[in-house]
Amino acid sequence: MRLEFLASAFLAATATAFPIFGKRSANTTFLEESVPDSSTNKLETSYGKPFAIFQPKVVIVSMFFYEQDPWLENMKFVNNITIPGLSPIYPDVHCTADYAVCQVTVGEGDINAAASMTALTLSPLFDFSKSYFMVAGIAGGEPQHVTLGSVTFAKYAIQGALEYEIAYADYHETNPDWKTGYFAYGTSDPSAYPENVYGTEVFELNEKLRDRAVELASSAALNNGTEGNAKMRELYEFEAAQNLPSVVKCDVMTSDNYYSGNTLGDYFAFWASLVTNGTATYCATAQEDNAHLEVLTRMTVHGIVDYDRVIVMRTISDFARPPPLYSNDTVNWFTNVSQGGSSASVANLYLAGSPIVNDILENWDAIYKDNTLYKSENYVGDLFNTLDSGNRDISAESFLIN
Ligand SMILES: *[C@@H]1O[C@H](CO)[C@@H](O)[C@H](O)[C@H]1NC(C)=O
Ligand SMILES: *[C@@H]1O[C@H](CO)[C@@H](O)[C@H](O)[C@H]1NC(C)=O
Ligand SMILES: *[C@@H]1O[C@H](CO)[C@@H](O)[C@H](O)[C@H]1NC(C)=O
Ligand SMILES: *[C@@H]1O[C@H](CO)[C@@H](O)[C@H](O)[C@H]1NC(C)=O
Ligand SMILES: *[C@@H]1O[C@H](CO)[C@@H](O)[C@H](O)[C@H]1NC(C)=O
Ligand SMILES: *[C@@H]1O[C@H](CO)[C@@H](O)[C@H](O)[C@H]1NC(C)=O
Repeated sequence: MRLEFLASAFLAATATAFPIFGKRSANTTFLEESVPDSSTNKLETSYGKPFAIFQPKVVIVSMFFYEQDPWLENMKFVNNITIPGLSPIYPDVHCTADYAVCQVTVGEGDINAAASMTALTLSPLFDFSKSYFMVAGIAGGEPQHVTLGSVTFAKYAIQGALEYEIAYADYHETNPDWKTGYFAYGTSDPSAYPENVYGTEVFELNEKLRDRAVELASSAALNNGTEGNAKMRELYEFEAAQNLPSVVKCDVMTSDNYYSGNTLGDYFAFWASLVTNGTATYCATAQEDNAHLEVLTRMTVHGIVDYDRVIVMRTISDFARPPPLYSNDTVNWFTNVSQGGSSASVANLYLAGSPIVNDILENWDAIYKDNTLYKSENYVGDLFNTLDSGNRDISAESFLIN
């Protein structure tokens, strides 16, 4: 079923008592009362969303078809809803028959992710004020912490490469001690904490909810991967890389620049630690999470979503740095050596992600609807303290704005 946005159709929709989660009728009371006051020149329009007939309990966020397929195959998403502003190649939100679970595919990279999430969350058709968002995607993995097929749940999402950069040819003679050409805004030293930030560099997530998702995922029988994966794991010196996949609490780096190798891996591990005041453990590299989290932070300020109800899960599809055998042959390693395929990471998206989805559905009234049990106790949100969450363990008192 494809739904077009036709107000009259919703107004005529069969009346269902408010509030239900899933699908309900348009709020005609609100419609009658919601004509904004235009008598002042500061017009604050309301997002009360009178047409919001869908109120999903869970929204699964995928980035491309490979990540969406395990959900579409395992769950019955019988409703397709076309939303203006989604990716041209993924124009529909998919929802279950009762609209309690929906899935969206945002497209890859920060720009697609931010544009799609903005369009989705501002859609007048949806009330996401109590919805749980779970980003469920694949990622590169750091062999010190994870292996092929591992499932990671993040507390921090760090944006790499939102920095100055000078090419190797231009600094290696003048600054031979620099490990890479990256350094933070407002500084001239690669080891310095940023003086100036754009605000999307770090997001901290609800740790209690993250830990609940980990607890549930830990009892899932994970897909262990292929023989090729097993051979690749054996080449590493780290125990985490050699082991079979498991569920790991560690953090995600977001970068549009799809990097690989020891030099950038070491640098971004340092950067992750630097910008989180030594609290993050970088283990997964992907291209969208800070974009999603920026949108969800902004929308939380206006009650459109609830940032405390966001989970970021990344499963490991490939190693982000070579094993010792290839450590001085990174280009060949990256472009030409098979790691045995990424089927385990894709299968594990559903295997490790569905337990928390089911828990939310089964315990909606008792636990999740009001989110008291898993309400955050740690600092949550961005470097600007936009969500005013207290307990600040990251960020500076202030940054230069320039
Ligand atoms: C809904 O979308 C999915 C994924 O794009 C597609 O496979 C399916 O055919 C669509 N269903 C309908 C009824 O259009
Ligand atoms: C419908 O809108 C009115 C405001 O006009 C609001 O008081 C009421 O809570 C809304 N109903 C629901 C279920 O959101
Ligand atoms: C993965 O390997 C572990 C350890 O051998 C085993 O217990 C588990 O059943 C395997 N998973 C699957 C899906 O076969
Ligand atoms: C890697 O480095 C070692 C030690 O410098 C050298 O012996 C070896 O030939 C290099 N291998 C490749 C593929 O460049
Ligand atoms: C790819 O690897 C094979 C060996 O597996 C080698 O023969 C070939 O030259 C490599 N190709 C490139 C472009 O490095
Ligand atoms: C984080 O580190 C920076 C740079 O050293 C410092 O200015 C800031 O106060 C620290 N923030 C917290 C919360 O410790």
